[in-house]
Amino acid sequence: MHMKYASIDIEPFLSERARAWKPSAIRELFPLQSIPGMLSLLSGTPHPKTLPFEAMSFRLKPIAFDRPIEVTIEGDDLVEALQYGPTAGVPRFVKWLKNLQCKVHGRSLDEGWAVAVGTGSQDLMYKTFQSLTNAGHSVLFETPSYSGALGILRVEPCSLAEVQSDAHGLNPDALREVLSTWHKRRPGQCFPNILYTVPTGNNPTGASKYTSGKKDANQYNLLILEDDAYSFLYYGPEENHARSYFALEDEVNGEVGRVVRFDTHSKVLSSGMRLGVMTAHKKVIDAVVTMTTNTNAKTFSTTQMIAYRLLSSWGIDWSLEHATLSLLAFTSGNATCSKPPPGNTSPALRNGTPRKLAFSSTRSSSCPLAPTRIPSCERRR
Ligand SMILES: Cc1ncc(COP(=O)(O)O)c(C=O)c1O
Repeated sequence: MHMKYASIDIEPFLSERARAWKPSAIRELFPLQSIPGMLSLLSGTPHPKTLPFEAMSFRLKPIAFDRPIEVTIEGDDLVEALQYGPTAGVPRFVKWLKNLQCKVHGRSLDEGWAVAVGTGSQDLMYKTFQSLTNAGHSVLFETPSYSGALGILRVEPCSLAEVQSDAHGLNPDALREVLSTWHKRRPGQCFPNILYTVPTGNNPTGASKYTSGKKDANQYNLLILEDDAYSFLYYGPEENHARSYFALEDEVNGEVGRVVRFDTHSKVLSSGMRLGVMTAHKKVIDAVVTMTTNTNAKTFSTTQMIAYRLLSSWGIDWSLEHATLSLLAFTSGNATCSKPPPGNTSPALRNGTPRKLAFSSTRSSSCPLAPTRIPSCERRR
């Protein structure tokens, strides 16, 4: 039976910068535009009839279906695709993503989390670091780590502390050691409040974390920033295919809200569409969304609508299956992926329990695909 757990108090984790951003005055007035008869010049939104696009069509490769499928975006869908709209994302797309998170991670919608779409997960991570760190804070990150995240962290006014990873990703003993000796080894330095980790197919090591190690890491009073960009690319033994930190947090901690999860469509659909997805405590999402509202309003609704139409035509099961097939194509060196013959579906579908949202890989250190290590990140003080 699924139990309901309390959400952690997120307020103490929010940065001064997160509190300083205020909802955009213009966007606060958006609902007034839908009052019948209102002629609004408020946000500079042009009348749809003045826009030059009649319809947008794209053809899908014969992946999920046995022939190419033509998808056309027109009418209300087109208006939604071409105009400003809610910062967190095109509502139907966000709803689809929430359902996907429920299915993949076994979470329910009433646990205080929300989803926001962003201009790539990289931008969502940048805004999250801004929302959770003050000058002088300490951030834990596993090493070696994704250079894109380090690029952001290096300019944050906080101290960075490495946690060594091994062939199975972040090493829980190393984490324990860093935390238990913190005050002795770093007198006067703030105790860390966030941990950044790439739990599946780590970039650059390729290591993937097992469930048991994730449970250990979940036990500390840290927010876990779970960058799971490769979670769909898993090709290790099925029994080692770990559940996500997001999936585990309630059963490990007896509470939820500690995990900030990042997924991306860059590895599955297209990196040029710039569609990252963030799933977290509603207040963390609000903080990031408020920054976006003030800076670039939202990510592209055109690409969100394309992704929504594509994924909703495939359905959740096939979207997950496509990820597995893409991986098979990737690992076999055959750069095409097609629908498997009946009865030859991936374990994910055979079991009826597809598990992951984005591609993932388990490139162990002995795997030829594993890139070389990058030098450890310099610690800033
Ligand atoms: C571990 C990891 N996280 C995040 C990203 C960035 O993804 P996005 O294209 O959504 O910004 C990448 C891109 O390669 C990555 O390897």
